[in-house]
Amino acid sequence: MTDWQELASKYLMTTYKRMPVTFVRGQGSRLWDDAGREYLDFFGGHVVVNLGHCHPEVVATLREQAGTLMHYSNVVYTTPQIELARLLVENSCLDRAFFCNSGAEANEAALKLARKWAKEHKDGAYEVICAENAFHGRTLATVTASGTERYKAPFTPLPTGFLHVPFNDVEAIKRATTEATCAVLLEPIQGEGGVVIPDDDYLRRVRAWCDEQNLLLILDEVQTGIGRTGKLFAYQHYSVEPDIITLAKGLGNGFPIGAVLAKERCAVFVPGDHGTTFGGNPLAARVGYTVVKYVIDNDIPAQAAAKGETLGRRLATLHDCYEFVEDVRGKGMLWAVEFGREMAEEVTLACLEEGLVVNNVRPNTLRLSPPLTVSEEELEEGLAKLDKVFAALSYMDA
Ligand SMILES: Cc1ncc(COP(=O)(O)O)c(C=O)c1O
Repeated sequence: MTDWQELASKYLMTTYKRMPVTFVRGQGSRLWDDAGREYLDFFGGHVVVNLGHCHPEVVATLREQAGTLMHYSNVVYTTPQIELARLLVENSCLDRAFFCNSGAEANEAALKLARKWAKEHKDGAYEVICAENAFHGRTLATVTASGTERYKAPFTPLPTGFLHVPFNDVEAIKRATTEATCAVLLEPIQGEGGVVIPDDDYLRRVRAWCDEQNLLLILDEVQTGIGRTGKLFAYQHYSVEPDIITLAKGLGNGFPIGAVLAKERCAVFVPGDHGTTFGGNPLAARVGYTVVKYVIDNDIPAQAAAKGETLGRRLATLHDCYEFVEDVRGKGMLWAVEFGREMAEEVTLACLEEGLVVNNVRPNTLRLSPPLTVSEEELEEGLAKLDKVFAALSYMDA
């Protein structure tokens, strides 16, 4: 049998510390490795496959569109892109869409949009207030906007114009605001930061401050969007209307696509300001359309909310049972289990041995993000595996 991991170590750049598994097939909430072993997927390849692997409607769309028109660039009109823009706009508080290929690109475009808007409407203000512990991507601007110093240190000098304040602290945003501030960029719930959920009134108070100071509120919904938290977009939990949101991950259910949605007042790009060869091409846009339409028509966010309650209840039981579990928290189908020590990698590897894929999002924190279409039985099966892993670790601790 081919040793894929050996070949990877020879030919790939070592950007990731990978789990020792090679997946070759996926269906629904399940995956199979190159030896034919089956796994339950409670991670979704970084919170992407909201509708499960190889969802039949997504696969059918891909096949059909691939044989119709795969690519044309943005110097012409293509119908899937316009239809996806309309669907997203009609189901959000935003007015216009720009399509790209990833979350980082979506945030990069949002940052450029904010700077251009401020050049025209705010005396050239350019600073963006971001949150500590945030994650917005790996391009130079988005890694600078992110809150993890370790991700930035090798790449200095970094672009200027980004300030960081503690998440969930409105007063800190107020103190950081100056004449130079043009926008506040936040995740509604910090995903990579360990599923950090702000107070219920946080975004509302940030919105009020942005209104008072004429700042744009940009919400990075790359991870929280497309039903993940129990609403189509996470901002809908908090009775706020952002000026800009960014999307990727669940938008293509595994097919690469990103989007920026903006209010009319700040959709200030004109020809030449920004662009992308592949962004919003017919194949990606048609897949995005199928995904979003399916999510809306089948009320997947409501299903995520209901299943998330079950998941939360079962995790709370594990919290009660195991003294090394310090906290469980989440919304919809995005959950974290925080440990009293740095054991998340050990747990992740033990789960893999049990046939359950989870993610050690932080050294002391596990992230659980099953497909929103996971069945109650699969949810129980995965949680039983997690319980078994915890029990073994607890026995070793004793
Ligand atoms: C909130 C958030 N923003 C941006 C990104 C970057 O997205 P991508 O990896 O598609 O560039 C991520 C990826 O994890 C994310 O979670």
